[in-house]
Amino acid sequence: MKRTISIQGKALILTLALSATTSAIADNVEQRTQAAMEVAQSFMMQLGKTMKGAMQKDGPVAAINVCSEQAPKMTADISRNQGWKVTRVSTRVRNPMIGMPDIWEQKVLAQFQARLDQGESLKTMSFSEMVTEPNGRYFRFAKAIGVKPQCLTCHGSKNDIPSAVKQKLQQQYPFDRATDYRTGDLRGAVSIKQPLPSM
Ligand code: HEC
Repeated sequence: MKRTISIQGKALILTLALSATTSAIADNVEQRTQAAMEVAQSFMMQLGKTMKGAMQKDGPVAAINVCSEQAPKMTADISRNQGWKVTRVSTRVRNPMIGMPDIWEQKVLAQFQARLDQGESLKTMSFSEMVTEPNGRYFRFAKAIGVKPQCLTCHGSKNDIPSAVKQKLQQQYPFDRATDYRTGDLRGAVSIKQPLPSM
């Protein structure tokens, strides 16, 4: 009798422990999503402010440096501070070294485009998921980046981009595909990848 109780007791503890783990993982996705969203939003805000300041103070040719030097520096700093990989990715990239999406990011960018086509706002659009890759488990998060009027100076059509800017972009990015965007288009995503402890 005593033995049965203790087995039942153990089973109960195991059940409780399992459900606690399951809900901990669920909470974890929510918590991680929230933390990732905060980091992505504050990065985008910071970048937007820096870009606006440089455009007003030094003009668009000088402001190219904000996107080419400051943005990768900012994402690298955040990556180091958080222990996460933080990047900006796009289906049509200007800088293939940094901006080229991996398979998960390609899937999510396609999903974002479909959600945009169905009328969802890009402002709040995001997606997160726990994934298992050949070398481990990861939490992955992406937040959509929309095209605003001020982006067209460097990412718009031939008519939007001043010729001095066009010239500098052609010099620095001979394989530039990040033009001909219009306001409201999906430009890409801030992508965050966090390593998870193995189960
Ligand atoms: C002054 C010019 C300029 C303006 C304005 C500008 N960009 Fe860029 N953008 C660039 C350059 C240059 C790069 C390439 C950066 C690099 O070398 O990594 C770039 C890269 C990017 C990337 C990374 C993917 C890629 O194509 O390589 C994203 C996303 C992006 N820009 C979004 C935006 C958005 C959104 C805006 C408006 C809020 C904007 N940019 C405004 C010049 C600009």
